[in-house]
Amino acid sequence: LKMEGYRSFLFFLVSSLLFGFLGVIFVLVWVLHWREGLAWNGGAAEFNWHPVLVITGFVFIEGIAIIVYRLPWTWKCSKLLMKYIHAGLHLVAIVLVIVALVAVFDFHNSFKIPNMYSLHSWVGLTVVILFSLQLVISVFVFLLPIASDSLRAALMPIHVYMGLLLYGSIIATCLMGITEKLIFAVKEPPYSKLPPEAIFVNTLGLLIVVFGGLVIWIATRPAWKRPPSYGVKLPHPNGGNPTDTEDNTTVTDHKPDLELNSDAARKRNLKLDEAGQRSTM
Ligand code: HEM
Repeated sequence: LKMEGYRSFLFFLVSSLLFGFLGVIFVLVWVLHWREGLAWNGGAAEFNWHPVLVITGFVFIEGIAIIVYRLPWTWKCSKLLMKYIHAGLHLVAIVLVIVALVAVFDFHNSFKIPNMYSLHSWVGLTVVILFSLQLVISVFVFLLPIASDSLRAALMPIHVYMGLLLYGSIIATCLMGITEKLIFAVKEPPYSKLPPEAIFVNTLGLLIVVFGGLVIWIATRPAWKRPPSYGVKLPHPNGGNPTDTEDNTTVTDHKPDLELNSDAARKRNLKLDEAGQRSTM
């Protein structure tokens, strides 16, 4: 299948991957080179798992989860398979983040540092709880074959909005955490003297913001959406929801390409976007 603006999609995809990889490398270099390394010993090296796992899981892997339907190479795969991949990546992300939270609570407890006093921890824990809720609800509504099409269609805009809101909040939480840690930990010379570690880690923060921005850009371009599967009844021109949707069909199982590639089909697909609707099957 052809994609509108394929070259610019590739540019954004490659740039985002570059920034994402760099972010993960920077956080590793930070804790391994500038800080105490990684260990599970109740000490500072255990705390260090917190930023490493959160940036790997909640920023990088979660960013890929958000844009995975946009990869045109996957459009020949069934929507159901792609849903499993999307959900599976979220699951990997949340597992890494839960380990990251255990690390920081364990570290706080062994040093008798109070828990949950900072804005960072409030926003962070809220995001983790809402993210888990979104994951469970979405598995029941969109993955398991139990919910009605109308429920799926009704929840899809909320799913998309919550996903992007939570992702933006994840980036904000990371920035707060990075700032806190730099203020706590960079001494002699202090953070305010801008030593090399501070410049390096400020740069890490910028990498995360740019990566997040690219992911959200890719996810919000209507023209880069996965075309609806063959068998999806598009809405009538006078409105109404898509009704019957056929799941396990791969686009190549049939001969839908004429229809899917036609300008008319593409325009109707964009119309669906304007209505804030997506194929939910
Ligand atoms: C503490 C969540 C990213 C640094 C915490 C706590 C939570 C949390 C819930 C409270 C732990 C406790 O009270 O015992 C998150 C989430 C993140 C994230 C959900 C990502 C979305 C980061 C990053 C850093 C960081 C990237 C960078 C180093 C800290 C620090 C603390 C902390 C220094 C201890 C001080 C405090 O409680 O605020 N985090 N965190 N966090 N986090 Fe994060």
